[in-house]
Amino acid sequence: MNNFDLDIKKYGNENNVPITLDDTLSFICKTINENDSKQILEIGTAIAYGSISMAENTNCEHIDTLEINEDRYNLAKKNIAEHNLENKITCYLLDAIEYLKNCKKKYDFIYLDGPKGQYINYLPYLVKILNKGGIIVADNLNFHGMVTGEIPVSRGCRSMIKGLKNYIEEITNNPIFETEILNIGDGIGITKLK
Ligand SMILES: C[S@@+](CC[C@H](N)C(=O)[O-])C[C@H]1O[C@@H](n2cnc3c(N)ncnc32)[C@H](O)[C@@H]1O
Repeated sequence: MNNFDLDIKKYGNENNVPITLDDTLSFICKTINENDSKQILEIGTAIAYGSISMAENTNCEHIDTLEINEDRYNLAKKNIAEHNLENKITCYLLDAIEYLKNCKKKYDFIYLDGPKGQYINYLPYLVKILNKGGIIVADNLNFHGMVTGEIPVSRGCRSMIKGLKNYIEEITNNPIFETEILNIGDGIGITKLK
């Protein structure tokens, strides 16, 4: 049984801060443990609900997590400190692409939960920093039914949905990957680098 922080979840829900759904997080924690993933990267920290959950419910060694919004970053740092996890979670205030372009570290597991339209642009960098056999889990691949066409794509979402479709096509068809798309939460892709 996973232990997720109900106060952080309540704050997120009441203040319109997007946080990962619990069934998605449970799947992520299970996958990290089953694959014995030690070094984790999360793109999109928000207020650290996901990173704290991963730190407290898996056997991982370290989590780096990236956030562009300063208010959320400050709250994330506070939440991480309150859980005494400063040694296990490092939160960076920056645009994820800057981190990815300069990253020299290697990861076993990457949780992709930042700007949805950018997943496809991040992918070439992720391949470089992921160990062989490493895993990428990408959230919101259904994007509330807009990717599958169940609901019409609103004008402001067109380029993001196009980006998500391109991401799905690439992880599904590129032979360097082994991918499963699962109907968990808002749709997740689990991709192994062969
Ligand atoms: C869905 S939320 C992340 C939720 C978090 N993973 C959790 O488990 O609770 C997405 C976050 O990505 C951040 N974000 C958006 N664009 C970004 C970028 N270019 N670089 C880093 N973070 C970004 C947003 O500010 C937002 O807080």
